[in-house]
Amino acid sequence: MIQRFLTKEYRQLPKDEFIDRILCSVAGMTTKNNIYLMDKGISAMPENADILEIGSFAGQSAIIMNYLMKKHNKKGKIICIDPYVYEGWFDLQKNTDDEYLNSVGQQTHITRLNYLHFIHDSFVKNTNFFCSENVPLLYKMTSNDFFEKFKNKLFPELLNLNIGFCYIDGEHSKDVAFNDMKNCLNISIKSTMILMDDTDTRLNLGSVEAAIEIKKLPNIKVVLSNPNILFQKVY
Ligand SMILES: C[S@@+](CC[C@H](N)C(=O)[O-])C[C@H]1O[C@@H](n2cnc3c(N)ncnc32)[C@H](O)[C@@H]1O
Repeated sequence: MIQRFLTKEYRQLPKDEFIDRILCSVAGMTTKNNIYLMDKGISAMPENADILEIGSFAGQSAIIMNYLMKKHNKKGKIICIDPYVYEGWFDLQKNTDDEYLNSVGQQTHITRLNYLHFIHDSFVKNTNFFCSENVPLLYKMTSNDFFEKFKNKLFPELLNLNIGFCYIDGEHSKDVAFNDMKNCLNISIKSTMILMDDTDTRLNLGSVEAAIEIKKLPNIKVVLSNPNILFQKVY
């Protein structure tokens, strides 16, 4: 999401050369405040636990989490889920004609389909380059599809998954964000921390409404709002 507030008042890690390099080399939306929360969640994971990311875009946040795993001597895998759907932030307010809806920012030489291929290819290229020691696994599908197939054991390579940190940054509607959280709670290990993007209460988004419902669940607590919320599964 691109709707943001000035976030200097919130916590950040000390200056980190590699993170700064990634933020200016790989497309993405990872804020330094979220990176602080990722670091907190990843440092607390058991050594062999894995990470689940919902909504990976061009790989920026996955590469940063891979780096944080290495920094904290974690040996697990990163599982990324993204169907590569176009998020036209202004579609509803602005324009519904075909030419607008088929192109990116009214640049008719860039179709949305080609743009999505480009972002997917960027993910592959970026993660192969920056995470060559432990390349994240990408599942090109919606989170709902992923969790359904996962439950039915259709991914033999994931049978021993041991999820110890989750980053939810996929579809931001209330229902999907809430379901993503429920599924993360279901498939993760005890005490897993789960960072949910765009839960800053000043935002007008479904993910903020979902967070209000999530706080009422019995098996979850808030670790920190910075200003997005880092949750923790309590049992
Ligand atoms: C805000 S971007 C993710 C940014 C990325 N985490 C980063 O910081 O670099 C949101 C992504 O969620 C993906 N997405 C949309 N609907 C989804 C769904 N139902 N399941 C999983 N991902 C979804 C979009 O394709 C898009 O790439």
